Amino acid sequence: MTRFVLNSRIVQTDQPPGTILLDFIRLSSGLTGTKEACREGECGACTVLLGRPGPQGLVYRTVASCLLPLGDVQGCHVVTVEGLSEGPLTLVQEMILEHSASQCGFCTPGVVMSLTGFCLASKAFSFREALDALDGNLCRCTGYVAIRDAARALCERLEGVDPDPALRVATLVELGILPQGFLEAPSLVDGCQTPEAPGKAEAIKAVLVAGGTDIFVQRPEQLRKTNLEFLSRRQDLKFIRLEDGVLRVGGAVTVESFRLSEVVNRIFPTLRDDLLLHSSTILRNRATLTGNLVNASPVGDVTIILLALDATLEIRTPEGQTRRVRLAEFYRGYKQFDLAPGELITEIRIPEPAPGTRFNFEKVSNREILDIAAVNTAMRLVLAPDGTIQDLRLSAGGVAPVPLFITGLEGFRGRKPEGETLGLLARHVVEMVSPISDIRGSATYKKLLLGQLVRAHFSAEVLS
Ligand SMILES: Cc1cc2nc3c(=O)[nH]c(=O)nc-3n(C[C@H](O)[C@H](O)[C@H](O)COP(=O)(O)OP(=O)(O)OC[C@H]3O[C@@H](n4cnc5c(N)ncnc54)[C@H](O)[C@@H]3O)c2cc1C
Ligand code: FES
Ligand code: FES
Repeated sequence: MTRFVLNSRIVQTDQPPGTILLDFIRLSSGLTGTKEACREGECGACTVLLGRPGPQGLVYRTVASCLLPLGDVQGCHVVTVEGLSEGPLTLVQEMILEHSASQCGFCTPGVVMSLTGFCLASKAFSFREALDALDGNLCRCTGYVAIRDAARALCERLEGVDPDPALRVATLVELGILPQGFLEAPSLVDGCQTPEAPGKAEAIKAVLVAGGTDIFVQRPEQLRKTNLEFLSRRQDLKFIRLEDGVLRVGGAVTVESFRLSEVVNRIFPTLRDDLLLHSSTILRNRATLTGNLVNASPVGDVTIILLALDATLEIRTPEGQTRRVRLAEFYRGYKQFDLAPGELITEIRIPEPAPGTRFNFEKVSNREILDIAAVNTAMRLVLAPDGTIQDLRLSAGGVAPVPLFITGLEGFRGRKPEGETLGLLARHVVEMVSPISDIRGSATYKKLLLGQLVRAHFSAEVLS
């Protein structure tokens, strides 16, 4: 049985936990305001709000309901566009209307949910955050200008509003952005019993679902009736903390939580923008770092970043033992890696960079955002006081059957990263790779591109 709050009522269903939430919403609940288009997380038409209980109460985030298994919303509050419309139009809807930001209307419920999600999750109600929140919503009609205008007007109305997250729901109810019903959601959610986590024997046979943004694209039908274990419910795997010179990231941390984490922003300031290039808000709110690693795509953005940062994985075996593997030694061939069935990555360990360390990430894709890279690459560099290379790590994606850690860079230590040295370095990297020609570019193009991206790692902006 799955029990959760859908808008303002508790629902209980015995449909398989692998049922897609979008189908439950539209077909079983008759809430057709949430639209279905791509069913692959690409368009945002199916965006809903998911309120998940956390240590400080319900935390609301926008998610793509077409990739969200029903079992994963057990004990949560799911809000569709109908759940916002108890009475008059909300402020977000008013802004859309006022700025003619809806034409055929197919994308509009998703846009409304994303802007409402921005109001719930934003730190400072800035226009930039509002635009970022819309990065997963495609519109074929408006040309986006009107949608931006509506977002800007919304931000203007939010100027001076208390951003305290603890007061957020009450504040937004007062502003007419959320309906009154949200105030009762916590007690309704309390009434939805959460079943016990599966025992060890059961967990061994279960397929692990983290964000589901890979496996529910790949095999939704097969997973519908499979025994699933949902890592999003594991509070013990959601930590991010710096301890004894190691950034420790739990095995169920989402890309968006990592991107916005204060400690991550402090020690890796560029990652906040770099990770905007990973999918879109409605996916990053679900997608995890570990899911990216285990998906083992040769071009996974998180994987390429973590390779350059010298991450180590902490893995728990079904017998309860713990072992560690360096990410640089994790991949063995195309989609082959050092993880046995039943093993769980509980933690990603990233060494704190030495003072003055430079980190840079480059990604080239056909579309600037919401696209898989043709080639991506990351660099971690430590310069000696005389400006020569003291330590250098490079990774490259989309150019080999595995996410590639570039070896053989020791010879570049002691040299200044300029002129001939950069030419030699780019040639060294390009000689190590063996890309294939595919929809994202020819093998020749990818090699040339990688050479240029390696040089870009050493731009004046990065080295300054
Ligand atoms: C529209 C779209 C756009 C995308 N854009 C990008 C992009 O720009 N860049 C990019 O890199 N990726 C992108 N992706 C791919 C995907 O979002 C990422 O790979 C994501 O990080 C996967 O994480 P997840 O938590 O959703 O994985 P899931 O689908 O939940 O899991 C993937 C695999 O990892 C296993 N797994 C997960 N966690 C653990 C764990 N702790 N221990 C052991 N096994 C585990 C699962 O069992 C499963 O086999 C995109 C996907 C979509 C649908
Ligand atoms: S239907 Fe397109 S993102 Fe879900
Ligand atoms: S208004 Fe038609 S798709 Fe956006």
